[in-house]
Amino acid sequence: YRACMRIRTRACFGGVATGLATVLLASTASAAPAPGAPGVGDPYYPGDGNGGYDVTHYDIRLTYQPDVDGLSGTTTILATAETELSSFNLDFALDIRSVRVNNRPARVERDTADPTEVVVTPSEPLPEGSPMTVVVRYADTPSKVTVDGWTAWKLTDTGALAVDEPHIAEWWFPSNDHPTDKATYDVAVEVPDDVVALSNGVLSSRSKVRAGWTRWHWRSTEPQATYLTFLAVGDYDVRQATTPSGLPIVNAYDAGLGSIRPAAEASVERTPEVIEFLEGVFGPYPFEAQGGVVTNGLGFALENQTRSVYDAGFFRHGTNMSVVVHENAHQWFGDSVSLERWSDIWLNEGFATYAEYLWSEHIGEGTAAELAQYVYDSVPADDDFWQVLPGDPGADAQFHPAVYDRGALAVHALRTAVGDEVFFELMRTWLEDKRGGHGNIEEFIALAERLAGTQLDDVFEEWLFTKGKPEAGPNGAATR
Ligand code: ARG
Ligand code: ZN
Repeated sequence: YRACMRIRTRACFGGVATGLATVLLASTASAAPAPGAPGVGDPYYPGDGNGGYDVTHYDIRLTYQPDVDGLSGTTTILATAETELSSFNLDFALDIRSVRVNNRPARVERDTADPTEVVVTPSEPLPEGSPMTVVVRYADTPSKVTVDGWTAWKLTDTGALAVDEPHIAEWWFPSNDHPTDKATYDVAVEVPDDVVALSNGVLSSRSKVRAGWTRWHWRSTEPQATYLTFLAVGDYDVRQATTPSGLPIVNAYDAGLGSIRPAAEASVERTPEVIEFLEGVFGPYPFEAQGGVVTNGLGFALENQTRSVYDAGFFRHGTNMSVVVHENAHQWFGDSVSLERWSDIWLNEGFATYAEYLWSEHIGEGTAAELAQYVYDSVPADDDFWQVLPGDPGADAQFHPAVYDRGALAVHALRTAVGDEVFFELMRTWLEDKRGGHGNIEEFIALAERLAGTQLDDVFEEWLFTKGKPEAGPNGAATR
């Protein structure tokens, strides 16, 4: 069908080609060990992720010294070889001291053409299906390490932030850096006593073993994408509580928020209420903890799993529930159900933005229909906004307003087309079926068509894959 035809090189024909390649590989796999691929073939970032192994757990144990931006320590990766491997790649930009694979020293080389590709050659090939324990020791100054001319590692007044999308992991831990290979995490970071170290999940311990230093040990027990794994070091006030159902809540506020602090707290402290509302729409909250971090020096917000991070600027002019709803909606759309390819970004941003409309209606402000109509009516047909395709915006426009706003209008147009019953069933079924995994737009369209019992080419094609302002608004032709 048309949505498929338009992107056939990636999705439809790509599927067939992959199938053939698998057959060919299978027939030769036993013949000789081969290097794992340096990427998973993402259409926007071909070098992201690596072939030939699947990570189940990252144990990241670091020491961070804010005054010199010094990061050192060890990441231990637990993985399984998916093919017989003579070598495999890690995505990592920092300077490596040593790598051991299954308790033997391994050879390490960096691809000169792409310095984030580290080729690890174990002392002997890894049989298909065998467990891998990869211990990487490293030390570097992340703010000085540039990739394509910049660093995603951010220094703040009192520490640093490892928070970004789509690329951040390579500045602080070696990984299989693609949302299709999710894993559980232990993140244990030792920092000077006057700062804190925040990460995802539950604080399993905070301990002192030498004068002047404290180790913060965080644990995530649900599959988590590399880019959603974060580290924030700095002077934060940490507020801990428990939800009525027993989930730990950890919120943290940069100690330097000043007059912004009350509005930040009046927003982020309502995280449990937001999650309760979203559970009514999307189904059960998929994780073991929740919370938010408000910081200076980020410039955006990011839906880090169980603990979104917000730039203080979002609360400069007052409370901002939209951003809290948006990031928490991503816990379902993006974090629990991750993108199969970065080109599927609409599945994250369109739904997180639409959740803001649903919240507005929930609290008795504008209805979702009114908000969608207003956005549609506000942007003239000749505006460049309508030239970006939410269904495939391009790597450079991944976070273009059209992905968010036209993306949300697309969600509302879908709701108009299928009716409320099918629409809400569709979101819940998608999230339940894909929980802890990943999906792509074609799969979402197929599910929508199955539940609606009808072809939906027109609505998806027009709202996601066709340039220009759709003729009919998100509420249908009658409301134009
Ligand atoms: N997913 C984030 C959000 O919607 C956007 C992150 C933008 N990334 C960036 N590097 N500016 O809230
Ligand atoms: Zn978003």
